[in-house]
Amino acid sequence: MKVTYETFTPDDALAREFTRAVGQLAGELGGEHPFYVNGCARDGDRLGVELETAPHDERFVVGHFAQAGPADLDDAIESAHAFFAEWDDTPWSERVELVARVAKLVAARRFELAAILAYEAGKPLLEAIGEVDECVELVDYYCAQMRANEGFSIPMGAPSERERAYSVLRPYGVWAVIGPFNFPLALTLGPIAAALITGNTVVLKPSPHGYLSGHAVYRLFMDAGIPAAALHLLTIPEQRLGERDWFYTHAGLAGLTFTGSYETGMRMYRGFTAARPRPVICEMGGKNPAIVTTYADLDKAAAGIARSAFGYAGQRCSACSRAFVLRERYDELLARVLRARDSVVVGSPLDPASEIGPVIERAAVDRLLAAAAECRALGTPVYGGIQLREPAHGHYAEPTVAEVAPDARVMRDELFTPFLGISAVESFDHALELANGLSYGLTAGLYSENPAEIERFVQRIEAGVIYVNRAAGATSGAWPGVQPFGGWKASGNTGRGGGGLHYLQQYMREQSRTFVR
Ligand code: SIN
Repeated sequence: MKVTYETFTPDDALAREFTRAVGQLAGELGGEHPFYVNGCARDGDRLGVELETAPHDERFVVGHFAQAGPADLDDAIESAHAFFAEWDDTPWSERVELVARVAKLVAARRFELAAILAYEAGKPLLEAIGEVDECVELVDYYCAQMRANEGFSIPMGAPSERERAYSVLRPYGVWAVIGPFNFPLALTLGPIAAALITGNTVVLKPSPHGYLSGHAVYRLFMDAGIPAAALHLLTIPEQRLGERDWFYTHAGLAGLTFTGSYETGMRMYRGFTAARPRPVICEMGGKNPAIVTTYADLDKAAAGIARSAFGYAGQRCSACSRAFVLRERYDELLARVLRARDSVVVGSPLDPASEIGPVIERAAVDRLLAAAAECRALGTPVYGGIQLREPAHGHYAEPTVAEVAPDARVMRDELFTPFLGISAVESFDHALELANGLSYGLTAGLYSENPAEIERFVQRIEAGVIYVNRAAGATSGAWPGVQPFGGWKASGNTGRGGGGLHYLQQYMREQSRTFVR
């Protein structure tokens, strides 16, 4: 069964295979994992190991991961740098052929990888399989882009018969990929594939909540035949965050891709470019609005808003966390969103019947509790807003809706939990103004059957990914080759989306070549 982020119900075979894979992986978790420099395992003996636990049950050990330090990074970059010329000289078609094998391996390991996501990221069946299938599509799409553009070497105008001129896109060198916890496969594997196809070599640093996924990604590329000097895996723990500047300021890195919070992204962006200009691709959060107007189909609106607000427990960068509803439709829309909220099945990600699993850590539960308490203190109605004690030992937060003023703190700060703030507004223009009123600009949704409103929305909304009348997700669920995914304003620095037409080019710089006979 093909799964995308628009798939609502798994078939029996999918559920059976997922359950089998989850059961099998249970017996294999909890082991010790080295990191890899130039294909050699290192145990980081001087720095020790970090233990990672599962969000669905904190007694459950995902693994112990050796910690890499500055000397390991020096070695990884030295090796990646030494190999860069050879990799750059490899014909682009050969690089594409090698990376294309990764997609085939992902497909072959579909359930094994989904099981990793269930344990490590707390993803229930459809979210987990969806991310795995997204990886296949990302790699296929980037390979197809490279082929369609013939390696990005394009003949230009000829000023005379004796001259031939070309525009050639060339790789930069050693590229760092810093992954997030919420899409630990797709948002490491995708950027690595892009960097390698275009001729860069790579150092991967997965999220401390995504170490096992990072290992799985590394293995995929190694098993596909990518030379060990072209990709290095360093696990660097959270506790060293304050000291982590040594990673992203390293002079030997030529470019960097980061997905995560605005604060961390900006710190990297500044640090990385402080000494000299270097390309950075940062995807940094959102506070994504949905607008519901007088002319909305409320069935679509309620379904789409609930799915984007609560899907993956509100931990997609694209989650819908603000809804602005025209006053005359407010009560009806609220009632429908609450019905959708009530019917959501929250449970262990290992159970194929669960629709929503845990949040990633205790701090995320605390953020939801604090937001709910704040709204209650303001005297506004809150539906939900508690920690769920069942299943026990996990980080489960109740999907929550709060009726709030549009300027409340919870309507401005990114919470990364299943928390939706909803406000009544007097006009479509006011809703648009509120939607654009924050520094973020990742995704946005509109529900209106009025062509003039739709036109105004698409022209005026300040967001990189927008949806109109989508029941499958008001603001979330982008798919490679369909919805390029990248933010505007504080949500992203490049204005070019992953899985889109303009993504690969960011990993290369232009060289203008003129040959005279
Ligand atoms: C994300 O939010 O990071 C994934 C893409 C999406 O849901 O649109």
